[in-house]
Amino acid sequence: MKLILLGPPGAGKGTQADLICRRYSIVQISTGEMLRAAITAGTSLGKRVRDIMSAGELVDDKTVVQLVHERIAEPDCANGFLFDGFPRTVAQAQAIHDAGIAIDQVLEIRVPEPVLVKRISGRRVHEASGRTYHIAFNPPKTPDVDDLTGEPLVQRDDDKESAVRERLRVYRQETQPVASFYRNLDSPLAGTYSVVDGAGEVLDVQRSIVEALAA
Ligand code: AP5
Repeated sequence: MKLILLGPPGAGKGTQADLICRRYSIVQISTGEMLRAAITAGTSLGKRVRDIMSAGELVDDKTVVQLVHERIAEPDCANGFLFDGFPRTVAQAQAIHDAGIAIDQVLEIRVPEPVLVKRISGRRVHEASGRTYHIAFNPPKTPDVDDLTGEPLVQRDDDKESAVRERLRVYRQETQPVASFYRNLDSPLAGTYSVVDGAGEVLDVQRSIVEALAA
């Protein structure tokens, strides 16, 4: 099974991707997580993308597409994968199409902007694993501490207010056209396209996604 989760920052892509991948035994490929891991590891890629990401801008298409190609060539992707946060531009979508990668389903999660802002501002993450919490909607058992490791939770650099506004602007300008790309793609490699209401609670959204996948 090869899936794409589309949606604005804070839509719940990471949260839902985790649940879907466990349910269907497929690999979650989050380009945001991969780039953040490179920053944490201090690699040359990490140094190159750190300021771009903190400002809420997109990393260049060539870098991201190469990262994805390398990742899906790994053996654990043989049973399928879910792209979370990729493709984010029409050029990225075109690149995976040109590479002959067949997608079974594209799921677009829609959430109104005021809800997105609330979700992003309350998000806390465990840096080493990428586990995500929300101070009100999905709190850790002990405030500010990861449930599994007991390590501190942090706020992402790009979750600060000015970066969030920029990320939402970039989403409207660069990523919304990806939805039309897939809706209009006339190719045997194109999957079905579904829209899911992501404004409800986590488990309700998950139920809608599972229904869309079964349809
Ligand atoms: P990335 O990490 O992909 O961030 P994003 O797309 O902005 O998405 P978020 O992680 O903010 O949100 P999400 O939809 O995953 O929501 P989550 O589940 O965490 O990208 C970061 C940066 O990397 C980009 O800005 C760019 O610079 C770079 N990048 C990445 N991919 C790239 C690409 N392909 N090309 C170029 N550059 C790229 O949920 C949010 C919060 O809400 C959490 O606190 C969660 O607990 C809570 N929550 C989730 N669902 C619900 C619910 N139903 N009800 C209540 N709370 C909820």
